[in-house]
Amino acid sequence: MQLIAGNWKMHGRLASVAVIEALVAAGPIKGAQLLVCPPATLLAHFAAVVRGSHVRLGGQDCHPKTDGAFTGDISAAMLADAGASYVIVGHSERRLGHGELDPLVRAKAVAAQAAGLTPIVCVGETLAEREAGTTLAVVDRQLEGALPEAGPMVVAYEPVWAIGTGRTPTPAEVAEVHAFIASKVPERTAILYGGSVNPGNAAALLAVPHVSGALVGGASLAAADFLAIARAASAAAEVEAGS
Ligand code: 13P
Repeated sequence: MQLIAGNWKMHGRLASVAVIEALVAAGPIKGAQLLVCPPATLLAHFAAVVRGSHVRLGGQDCHPKTDGAFTGDISAAMLADAGASYVIVGHSERRLGHGELDPLVRAKAVAAQAAGLTPIVCVGETLAEREAGTTLAVVDRQLEGALPEAGPMVVAYEPVWAIGTGRTPTPAEVAEVHAFIASKVPERTAILYGGSVNPGNAAALLAVPHVSGALVGGASLAAADFLAIARAASAAAEVEAGS
């Protein structure tokens, strides 16, 4: 089963429920689990629409504590209460835009598990790090520092330079990093690829060994594109099952 996760980032309004309704109406896609991570303001609204369907919801970040005097923050327990079953932690937009470091990312992932959520822990190198040949060292450090010891978790490999740029690593480059991550994480941990995934490149990226899904930004905002990516995942899952 491939996990096709949409990270809406800071996009969406109440009316965007039309996208969720379209995903629900499309029905289950064999071999692909759909997950949408909208802004937290929309979770409860969307939860009413996906209830009983094949579509899951997630948050985009969480605070490591369950409650407290943390103005502007949202806890994993609150996300769960609003209908989430996953939460993204350590996205590069949090790491770079909000100065989040690995120990904090790990604390968030552990808090997510405690709240009954599956954390999606993001790792990935910057362009300078790739050009310096340090990609695997960077990813290794992030895995060592940010992953919980055990428990349900998903890892997302998102090269920072591929996010929102239309550029992607080659399948061989993705294969190298995913095989490395697979050697470091508990067996059967889902490892997603993220960064400029679209309906045109999804089949090639999802067919790479050790790629068990995608974390999709821009292309997850339109139901037709997101569903096309999920169908590519379904095809990849069939090939895998047959091999
Ligand atoms: P894009 O798909 O828009 O490149 O974003 C990727 C991403 O950051 C998903 O978390």
